[in-house]
Parts: sequence; C-alpha cells; structure tokens
Amino acid sequence: MSDSVTRRRFIGAAGAAAGGMLLGGAEGQAQAAEARKKLKIIAVSCSRRAGATTAGGLKIALEAAKAVAPERIEIELIDLAGKQLQAQVAAGLEVPPGQTDDFLPIAEKLADPQVAGLIIGTPVYYSSMSSVCKDFIERLGVFHKECTLSNVVGGVLAVGAARNGGQEVTIMSVQATLHAHEMVVVGAGRKTTRFGACLWANAEGGVEEQTNRAAAEDLGRRVGEVALAIGKPA
Ligand SMILES: Cc1cc2nc3c(=O)[nH]c(=O)nc-3n(C[C@H](O)[C@H](O)[C@H](O)COP(=O)(O)O)c2cc1C
Repeated sequence: MSDSVTRRRFIGAAGAAAGGMLLGGAEGQAQAAEARKKLKIIAVSCSRRAGATTAGGLKIALEAAKAVAPERIEIELIDLAGKQLQAQVAAGLEVPPGQTDDFLPIAEKLADPQVAGLIIGTPVYYSSMSSVCKDFIERLGVFHKECTLSNVVGGVLAVGAARNGGQEVTIMSVQATLHAHEMVVVGAGRKTTRFGACLWANAEGGVEEQTNRAAAEDLGRRVGEVALAIGKPA
C-alpha cells in the first residue's frame, strides 16, 4: 500500500455515490445527490477482547450519533480484536513473511469520502491507550501526507477497570494524535465527562450503568452534531 491515501483513490468504497454516477442520467444524478447527503460515522474498538466493554460503549455512542439525524447519518463499528495490524509498516517496513495484515480494508472504509466522524475507543492500560490503539493510530499515518482525514470529527472513549483509572489522560493522548490529521476533536460536551467518554468497566451493569451510558451517549451526540454542522468532508 502506498504511503499516501486520498479519498478519491478509494472512491469505490463510496458505494451508492459511485453507483449513481455509473447509472448516469437523471436517476443516477439523483442517487448520487442522495448519497452525498449521507454522512458516515465509524467507531473503532481498540480492545483485544472482541465485543467487550470498549466495543459495548462504542455501540452506545454510535447509536447516539445516529439519533442526531437518523436519515442522514450511517454508523459502523470496527472491532480490532483478533485483527493483525503490523506496526512496522507504519515505519516503512514490509509485512514480515508469513504474517498477515488486516489494515487495508479498514483504511478503505476510513477513506470513504462520506466518513465525517471517527470515534476511537480504547481500554485504559497503565493510564494510557492499549497497544492495539497505538498500532492503529500509527497506521493512520497512511492518511497523513494528503491530510485525508482533515475536518473529520474525532471523539475518544476510554474504559478503565477503576472509576478514575486514567481515562481522561488516555483520552487526551489519543486526541493529541488526531490533531496531526487536522481532525476536528470534540469532547463529550457539558453534561457528563468533558474530554471524551470515560467509562468504568466494573460498574454494576457494565456499559449500561447510567453514568457509563450517559457518557457514551454524550460523546456520540457531540460527534454527530459537529459532523452534521461541518457537513461532508471534501
Ligand atoms: C495491562 C493492563 C493494564 C491496565 N491498566 C489499567 C489502568 O491503568 N487503569 C484502569 O482503570 N484499568 C486498567 N486496566 C483494566 C482495563 O482498562 C479494563 O479491563 C478494560 O475494561 C478493558 O477493556 P475491554 O473490556 O474493552 O477489554 C488494565 C488492564 C490491563 C490488561
């Protein structure tokens, strides 16, 4: 894969828009215009445990993002559990012989021009992001040269086993990386947690515990609202 990815290069991933153009004529133009109105918000779970707390919190955030404008906003959760992201590729090295690398299909999804929001969720590991999250963020370097993620709204969710186990500092370290892509970083607003969604895995009820759910919802709502206000990235 090239060290530089533009949204145009992955236009095939735009699906309906591309299909509309192929159809041609008034029907095709109408379909393409309809597709252009849609915004996509993707959440990426950076836990090694499939469908665990981080993914659960992100599902809540995505539903809240969609609720901002159900007719315009589409959502998708990418769970990195079990996926191989070869970190050395970010440093210009080849995928080692015999190893697989699952980043390309993920990059194609993120390069879709309709992607207007990205929510990154990570477990708190020693008051920082998980190694999966770091690997994912380093692989986002493929978008850096063309600034492909410019103006995409970025939100962060962090889950710790302790109520105050380093969620905020973890969120801020992820947010710092998003500025390098000219992403529009948002927090969870004024009601619950400020910097992003701080979740406590050991709460009774897990992600459904009232405070957890409210934090995830607030983050999703902010990402949805700001994505809608900005409109689709170019
Ligand atoms: C290596 C390691 C370090 C951890 N460090 C912290 C920590 O600093 N603070 C905290 O609150 N929880 C810590 N935890 C607990 C995880 O954040 C917690 O289990 C979280 O729910 C994992 O997310 P998941 O359920 O999506 O896998 C740590 C767990 C592991 C395995």
